[in-house]
Amino acid sequence: MAELQRTLAIVKPDAVAAGATGEILRRIEEKGLRIVGLKRLQLSEQLARGFYAVHKERPFYGDLVKFMTSSPVVVVALEGDDAIARWRDLMGPTNSTEAPAGTIRGDFGTDVERNASHGSDAPETAKVELAYFFNATEIQGPVEAL
Ligand code: RTP
Ligand code: MG
Repeated sequence: MAELQRTLAIVKPDAVAAGATGEILRRIEEKGLRIVGLKRLQLSEQLARGFYAVHKERPFYGDLVKFMTSSPVVVVALEGDDAIARWRDLMGPTNSTEAPAGTIRGDFGTDVERNASHGSDAPETAKVELAYFFNATEIQGPVEAL
């Protein structure tokens, strides 16, 4: 049975700089996911490090932080049935070179790092990641309890 969920999407610096924000938001809405929170911001190094802290021991962590702070991002709170998996399906696999045409990463990403978008990977991470960027008054959806 479908589960009503919220998830965090980020339009990453490469896609924002390329002017792809509108098209990505259009695809989100076309899929029936609701945009219930939205803001554009320049991540500080501290914010980016904290956001991707789960990867801090990985060899790509430093590069990832550099990329994510290179220019502004757009952070988006999404809501809908099975929103977490549906947004990740829409994005495609992490490595843009392996992402099929028609996916966000396939169409707007460049490689494994510059991959146009982020999506939470589970209900617990979605909760933490949404709270990382939005306070309670900045997300309004029809379902108050979420
Ligand atoms: P995300 O968290 O951004 O939605 O991406 P993901 O779940 O598909 O992939 P994850 O393993 O969580 O990696 C986070 C981000 O780090 C960059 N990355 N670079 N150089 C590399 O090998 C490498 N691997 C991952 C990507 O920007 C990836 O989205
Ligand atoms: Mg991830």
